[in-house]
Amino acid sequence: MIIRDIATLKRTVRQWNQAGETIGLVPTMGALHEGHLSLVTQARARTQRVIVSIFVNPTQFNNPTDLATYPRTEAEDIALLPDVDAIFIPTAEAMYPEGFSSTVKVSAMAETLEGAYRPGHFDGMATVVTKLFSLSEADYAFFGEKDWQQLQIVRRFVQDLNLPIEIVACPTLREADGLALSSRNRRLSPEARKNAPALHAILQEIATTIRQGQPIAEALDNGMKSLIAAGFGPIDYLACCEAESLTSVTTVFATKHDNGALRLLVAAALESVRLIDNIVI
Ligand code: PAF
Repeated sequence: MIIRDIATLKRTVRQWNQAGETIGLVPTMGALHEGHLSLVTQARARTQRVIVSIFVNPTQFNNPTDLATYPRTEAEDIALLPDVDAIFIPTAEAMYPEGFSSTVKVSAMAETLEGAYRPGHFDGMATVVTKLFSLSEADYAFFGEKDWQQLQIVRRFVQDLNLPIEIVACPTLREADGLALSSRNRRLSPEARKNAPALHAILQEIATTIRQGQPIAEALDNGMKSLIAAGFGPIDYLACCEAESLTSVTTVFATKHDNGALRLLVAAALESVRLIDNIVI
């Protein structure tokens, strides 16, 4: 069922709630790929009703060209979702009617990394995601680890605002050569596509050397050089952070930073296509 208006969505989820059915939400901006479909599979396995939202949210784009050129493939997206209970495709006017004036703002962790390069991005994301949670009345929402900072921010405001929803993190899906699946990959030229897997390979190299005891600053510095040599630029950030708080880490403490407590995150462009990735250390 395709739902384009808020009233129908509300009526539908009310019926499901009355029948005691659990609801899973997969929020997307469309241009669906296997990564999104793996979120849908996880939702299907865990909840009785699955809603996929498709909404290219204007408030999370700080760059008008990025918004204008964001891939919009609605017919293909719908064809990829034969098994979901509802596909919610609202208009920008319905989501942000005249007079709309509220924002969900997460401080500190939303101002670093992506936040430093895309001012307002996470405010727009947090606001639309909060609206989608509220409209869908979902019990669970499914987010990919590919957007690691987004996932941590969502977890933070769900906890801070006591939102009645559980966030399920789903692992990043990768091509056989390591490139993380992303809607932006379709913008890569054949040449850039050939070089793009270096992003993941270099992250792995840095993680290995840090695990082996190389000082973080030195490992990141070598990683930067490798990225430049592989044709990436500009490199917005290459950082080692505490996985949940996203605080930058310069020294590893064995007791504090065991078991996935550290994360490497990168954002770098290849022929002007901006790619992000992250891995556990
Ligand atoms: O990750 C995305 O595609 C978007 O940030 C989201 C979560 C759908 C909100 O617009």
